[in-house]
Amino acid sequence: MKRAEAGNMSNGRSCHLLRGAWLLWQVSLVAGTGSKLWEVPTASLTSSSNLSLQWDPHCQHRHLQDTVQITAAVPPKLDGTWVSTRCEVRPGPEFLTRSYTFHASRHFQALQHYYNDNNCEDPAYSLMIRGKLRLRQASWITRGGTEAEHHLSKVGIVVHSLAAKQRLSSRLPPTCVGLTLGRVVPGKLYELYNTRAGRGCLAALGFSMMEMGLIRAETQHHNHGGKIKELFLGDIHTDWTQRTQYRPTGYQQPLQNAMHHVHPCPVCALVYRSSEHRPPVLPRSPVAPLSLAGRWVSQHCETRPTVLFLTRDFTFDPDQHAWEGIYRHYADPACSQPTFTLRASGHYAQGNPSAKISGATELVFKVTQVGVTAMEETTAKLLNGTRPGKCGQAGEWEVGVEQDLTPTDGCTVLGIKLPHKEYELFKAELDHRKHPLLFIGERPTDGSSPDRPQRRPTSFQGPMVLCSGGEIQPQEHRGSGFNSKQVQLPSNGNERLAQLVFLAFGSALCSLFCV
Ligand SMILES: *[C@@H]1O[C@H](CO)[C@@H](O)[C@H](O)[C@H]1NC(C)=O
Ligand SMILES: *[C@@H]1O[C@H](CO)[C@@H](O)[C@H](O)[C@H]1NC(C)=O
Repeated sequence: MKRAEAGNMSNGRSCHLLRGAWLLWQVSLVAGTGSKLWEVPTASLTSSSNLSLQWDPHCQHRHLQDTVQITAAVPPKLDGTWVSTRCEVRPGPEFLTRSYTFHASRHFQALQHYYNDNNCEDPAYSLMIRGKLRLRQASWITRGGTEAEHHLSKVGIVVHSLAAKQRLSSRLPPTCVGLTLGRVVPGKLYELYNTRAGRGCLAALGFSMMEMGLIRAETQHHNHGGKIKELFLGDIHTDWTQRTQYRPTGYQQPLQNAMHHVHPCPVCALVYRSSEHRPPVLPRSPVAPLSLAGRWVSQHCETRPTVLFLTRDFTFDPDQHAWEGIYRHYADPACSQPTFTLRASGHYAQGNPSAKISGATELVFKVTQVGVTAMEETTAKLLNGTRPGKCGQAGEWEVGVEQDLTPTDGCTVLGIKLPHKEYELFKAELDHRKHPLLFIGERPTDGSSPDRPQRRPTSFQGPMVLCSGGEIQPQEHRGSGFNSKQVQLPSNGNERLAQLVFLAFGSALCSLFCV
């Protein structure tokens, strides 16, 4: 719910301008690579930071003792097998589990199991993907991530039932490399792609490994001695037609290392032991009715395309149908350098169960009020310079002081127009400790807003945990990783930086508010 609206034309236009500027900036970056805008990271660049729960005083005290140190090497160390921790939902929706193995030789073998249902109980087909990965450089756009290039050598498919074969026949051409659909026998491996064949059949499945384009690996060192390793791979575009070309700037929910994962994780074990012939059949996760009452927070610092780094903090009051969402934005992947905070509130209506994802619920959110707090000087100055009546009180912006944007019906320069409506998809689940998790719909990757029922999300952001109300604890604030070598700014560095802050700010708000 990041909902506020940008309904009218002028407002939509300002967003496009911002997006255009963002693109321009990216282009200038690419053009500048020759002049060493960044330094290519070396293997020794491991950085770390200790965690603290700064953004949520209400949840804070429970975790102060439980310090977790998080390290993220740049470039990441990928060796080993990494597995899904739950049935994953991709835009579409598509339901799958993944098991990826990386070898020191840079070769990888990725297993993807696709299902007919959102519990991953009914396997449809599995893909066996082989290829080679080359790590390139630290991402300038998504700090803390490493860019990579992959080369596919082979993709094979095993169809698990006649019903699944039937469904595939509506998507795949009758003949693909080694496979003639009509003659496919369930349980047998067929070639779908090799280096001599074109990608037509892969594209027909909506398949690509573009997720390998942006990589981050984190290690959590718990003070009781345990270690958890997570692998973040690039996000999947929410628009089906874009997904095979899209270069990710955000991440999917992480895979966990098969040797270092959260315990217990029954799903990890099942996925780890699977093969293309024996897809994992997941146990049904405990049903949790959608009960929104209370305060929900992000489990860690989140990375999102265009918005970059943020934490979310929502409060719902079902009796009043009221909600408030606080989005704290940061400049770094540890969420330690705040840039601005956005507080939105309004009402919501709970609708029907989703027809596309069983157990999920459709909702409609209305944003009637938005406040913005600049958390550092550059942002404050930018907002301070806006024309009177267009964005809060011009000349009154100060670091750390919230401005109510409601009297100016939003903020023209930022593309915020109030009131705003959004169509949402929520889902509740229980984690392995039977604590509630709240999944909120994924934002459209292009920064638009789900302001029409047809744009309602079909997949989810990372789960939020219930904060107030007893035993439930949020996890620690995620620590950092990317202090590596300092990014080298060109001579007009400060200007660039200001531009970056503005663009990140603008596009962040755009993605929240624009049509
Ligand atoms: C994190 O905490 C440990 C133990 O308290 C300390 O030794 C280490 O220097 C700290 N690291 C950082 C980056 O602050
Ligand atoms: C905002 O503008 C006012 C009036 O021009 C000025 O007095 C104030 O110092 C500015 N604040 C910031 C943070 O730039």
